[in-house]
Amino acid sequence: MTAMVTLPSPRDLYDRWESQQWSVARVEVGRDASRWETLRPVTRRELLVALAELEIGEVCVTQTLSSLVDHSPTEEDRIYLCTQLADEGRHVQFFKQYLLGPVGVDPAELEQPDSELSLLSAYGQIFEPVLRDATRRVRESGGDPAVWHAGVVQYHLVTEGVIAAPSLKRLREFVRAVGGLAALEEGLSNVARDETRHLTYGQTAARRGVQNGFAEVIGQTYLGALEQAVEVLVNPGRKAVTPVIRAALAHHAGQLDEQWSVARNRMLRQLALIGLDALRDEAERAWERAFTRAFAVYEQRWDAPHPVPKAAGLGLLTPRAHV
Ligand SMILES: [Fe+2]
Ligand SMILES: [Fe+2]
Repeated sequence: MTAMVTLPSPRDLYDRWESQQWSVARVEVGRDASRWETLRPVTRRELLVALAELEIGEVCVTQTLSSLVDHSPTEEDRIYLCTQLADEGRHVQFFKQYLLGPVGVDPAELEQPDSELSLLSAYGQIFEPVLRDATRRVRESGGDPAVWHAGVVQYHLVTEGVIAAPSLKRLREFVRAVGGLAALEEGLSNVARDETRHLTYGQTAARRGVQNGFAEVIGQTYLGALEQAVEVLVNPGRKAVTPVIRAALAHHAGQLDEQWSVARNRMLRQLALIGLDALRDEAERAWERAFTRAFAVYEQRWDAPHPVPKAAGLGLLTPRAHV
């Protein structure tokens, strides 16, 4: 086996947490309000959907992390995971205050599980039940270490690493390009810094699990989760923006492909980091199959191809993320 990069211990990550504190109040979300009033409707809509999707993910993770805390394999893990629980609470608070403040979302929209925003959320519809189930099983098993490691895979490696981190990255780039949203930029950058610690913890815990006899459950859980993770990325349940003008279609499809390519690279990099690079080919095949399936579901549902295969079919794009 090739030499592996060193990963920080849970104690190191605790120390980072102490030195990387921030507060929602100090972000002062209200300063973005005037800029929201001048946004074009299409920009506003795109930002709103991305923010709501992240908010829904954050609420779900605050509701599910405690079983991993309760059944931590060591005291150090538990203390680190307590810091993460505090972070996720802060993230929900940030997204809520931002959506209710400068964006002007109705509080009822955020609370109702069947609101239009919730139904638009691929994460809420597709992956949230998977994560809830995985973390419930940790509790029901009384903290069986194999089940705990499967929970870390679903929570840290898939939800945070493959699904949330690339969409957070893309949203930050989009917000920078829109301009004039200083509070949102600052808040998202704080969230991203916290999430980097969370992802790193997942890699540390999974690598240790692989070394301690849980390689099989970790590998199979990871491979098994990829299909649904890709479904969240493609989101066949929501009609995608499909520009008619070829240059606009090429640009839009290229952006999606770029985001998915980031997710794919992360997915493969994590496998190598945790010591399961031997599963790389299998993971690549599972990833490609999942895209083929999600595009087929999309086309059947909307009676039109998804913009990415459409652009590829027209020779406007050479996809990188799923071939
Ligand atoms: Fe978070
Ligand atoms: Fe997180």
